[in-house]
Amino acid sequence: MERLICLGIGYVLGLFQTSYIYGKIHNTDIREHGSGNAGTTNALRTFGVKAGLLTFLGDFAKAILAALLVSLIFKNLGYSYVRVLEMYAGLGAVLGHVFPFYLHFKGGKGVASTAGLMIIIDTKITLLMMLTFIIISLTTKYVSLASLTATILLTIVVTIAGFNGYLDVSNEYLYEIIAITVILMLIIIFKHRGNIKKLLNGTENKLNLSKHSQG
Ligand code: G3P
Repeated sequence: MERLICLGIGYVLGLFQTSYIYGKIHNTDIREHGSGNAGTTNALRTFGVKAGLLTFLGDFAKAILAALLVSLIFKNLGYSYVRVLEMYAGLGAVLGHVFPFYLHFKGGKGVASTAGLMIIIDTKITLLMMLTFIIISLTTKYVSLASLTATILLTIVVTIAGFNGYLDVSNEYLYEIIAITVILMLIIIFKHRGNIKKLLNGTENKLNLSKHSQG
């Protein structure tokens, strides 16, 4: 029951679509511009650096907020179980972000929100993955490639770290934490299926910030 409550709390918080709201304030539906995605990269592409940063912060923070909120609500249920509940809340936030009911289930791709959740679960691993993301984005200019690589690596590292006792959760809950990490990865890969096709046939957009240097 607690798991469902956490998913629900996360889903509601995940409905806060930062880039969509930013666009609406500027009389633009971000889903009709650029890649059509309601996320950081398309906010950067469509509106500029300020919108990109705000979108990243908003989408990142809502998953953190969801995890922190449930860890406060259920703080008496034991360390390992609360970690699992944080994962459910984060998964809910990603689902709310990716499939918002009020936007006909057409939201973002879940990368920033997943990073927000995972930074609560393990700061060092997540910062390392964010560094990987930044390096691949800057060197290739393919943000989708950076997102996919960092997400897949994150899942592998969390799994290996988990089985080596690094995550410090009891075995009873470890499989659930790893399973949710894999589900998050699958959601992100599914949402990037169009990007993957374009990467493979060489038509994926490279990020060009020079057009929007004034933000
Ligand atoms: O996180 C989204 C990014 O990986 C790709 O975004 O707008 O280029 O499809 P976009």
